[in-house]
Amino acid sequence: MKKDYVLPSLNEARKRDKNRSEKLYFSLEEKYKDLGKDKKYYIITHGCQANQRDSETMAGILDSLGYEASADEKKADVIIINTCAVRQGAEEKVLGEIGALKRLKNENPDLIICLAGCMAQEEKSVALIMEKYRQVDIIFGTHNITSLPKLLYDVYNSKQRKVEVFSKMGEIVENVPVTRFMSHKAWVNIMYGCNKFCTYCIVPYTRGKERSRNKEDIISEVEELVKDGYKEVCLLGQNVNAYGKDLGIDYTFGNLLNDVAKTNIPRIRFMTSHPWDFDDSMIEAIRNNPNIMPYIHLPIQSGNTEILKKMNRRYSREEYFELFDKLKRELPGFAFTTDIIVGFPNESDEAFEDTLSAVDHCEYDNAFTFIYSKREGTPAALLEDDIERSVKEERLQRLNEKVAYYANKNNQRFRDQIVEVLVDGVSKRNSEVYSGYTPENKLVNFTGKDVKVGELVKVKITEVMSFSLNGEKIEE
Ligand code: 5AD
Ligand code: SF4
Repeated sequence: MKKDYVLPSLNEARKRDKNRSEKLYFSLEEKYKDLGKDKKYYIITHGCQANQRDSETMAGILDSLGYEASADEKKADVIIINTCAVRQGAEEKVLGEIGALKRLKNENPDLIICLAGCMAQEEKSVALIMEKYRQVDIIFGTHNITSLPKLLYDVYNSKQRKVEVFSKMGEIVENVPVTRFMSHKAWVNIMYGCNKFCTYCIVPYTRGKERSRNKEDIISEVEELVKDGYKEVCLLGQNVNAYGKDLGIDYTFGNLLNDVAKTNIPRIRFMTSHPWDFDDSMIEAIRNNPNIMPYIHLPIQSGNTEILKKMNRRYSREEYFELFDKLKRELPGFAFTTDIIVGFPNESDEAFEDTLSAVDHCEYDNAFTFIYSKREGTPAALLEDDIERSVKEERLQRLNEKVAYYANKNNQRFRDQIVEVLVDGVSKRNSEVYSGYTPENKLVNFTGKDVKVGELVKVKITEVMSFSLNGEKIEE
C-alpha cells in the first residue's frame, strides 16, 4: 500500500553543508487563530533541557491559538508527548505511555495525540507508530515545531493522520511564542544541533547541524527576562563551546558569556560544554563575572583513551585531565560534574578501571552515569554490543558507589556554611520544607518562614548528604 506520508531519514540527517543558517520569523496565519477556542492541551516532556525548552515553545504556540493548558491529561483535547531518543529505555517508556493513552482516545475520539521530539526523527520509530499505534494523530519533528498550527488545522479538517518531519534543517526561527513553565529560571537556546558525532550518540541526527542564534537575539531575550523578574538563565546548546563558529564572525562563547553577564541577571548557567574547544576566553569570562555560577558540567564519558577514540570524543584521558586540572586550578571553589557511559562495545575490565580511576582523579561533585545503549543509525551500532548486561550493571553500580563517595566528600565543605539559595518551591516530601539550588548547583532542602518561589535567600547548612544539603533559612 502506498504511504501518504514521508518517513524521516537518519542517513539524510547525517549530512552537513557549509551554508550559513538563514534566519526566519514566525508569524501566525489568520485562519489558525481560533483553532484552540474552548480546548485544552497537556504536554508530557521527556529528556534533556533542549526538550524542556521545546515544550515551552509548543505551549506558547498552543496558547497563541487560544488553547488553554490543562493540569489533567484526561481533560485535554490535545496531548503532546515530547520524546527523547538518547537511550532505548526512554523510547520504551514513551511507547508504554502511548499505549496507555489508547483508553483516553476510545473515550474521546476527538482527542488529538501528537508525538514530537527526537523519536519523531527516527524512521523506525515513525514507521512503528504509524503501523501499530493508530491512536497517534500527528507526528512532528524537532525542526517542525512551528508547523503545529497547520498540522492541527489539517487534522481537524481532513480527519487524516499527519506526519511532518524534516531530516535536515538549516534555518533558525525567531519570534516564536513561548510560555515558560517557571517564572524565575529560564532556558535560553544559544545554538541548536551538534556536529561532534560521538559514535554512540543519536543527537547529531535528531537535532541537525550546529546553528548559532545571533548574539543580539540572545541578549535581548535575556534582557526581557531580567525585566520580567527572572533570576537565572541557563544558556543551552549541545556543545556551547562551538557557539558562533558557524556564523563566520569573530565572536566566541567567551564573548557571549561576557555580554550576557552585562545584563545583570543574577545567575547564569550553561549546558553543555565539551572538553574540546574549552578555551581560555571561556575561563576568563567565567572567572571575571560573578553572576556566572561556579559550576561546570564537563562530560568525560570514559577514562580510557582507546574507548574515547572509539567514541570519537577527540581527546585522550591525559588531555581531559590537563583541561580538568587547569579548570580546577583557575576556578577555585567551583563544582564539577560529568557524564559517564559504561559498557561501550569492547570496554574491557581494564578500560572500565580507567574510568573508575578517572573519577578518583577528578573527584567530581556528581556524575550522570549511563549504561551504553545501542542506537540504530549511529556508527557505534555497527560494533558488536558485546558486554553482558550483568557486567554492565555491575560496572554501573561500582561507578555509582564511587561517584556517591566523592559527592559526599565534596559536600562536606558546606557544613555549617551560609549559602545563597534560589528558591524553586516546596519540597515534594514535606510541605514545610522548601528547596532550591546554591550557586554550585547543590540541592538544598530548608525550613523557614515567608519563603517565596523565585527569591534568593540565605540558608545555614545543618546537615550534609551525598546528593543534597539540609538547612535553615537565616532571617535577615
Ligand atoms: N547510550 C548511553 N548513554 C548515552 N548518552 C548519549 N548517548 C548514549 C547512548 N547511546 C549519554 C552521554 C551524554 C548524555 C546526555 O547521555 O553520556 O553526555
Ligand atoms: Fe551527542 Fe557528543 Fe553531540 Fe553531546 S557532543 S550531543 S554526546 S554527539
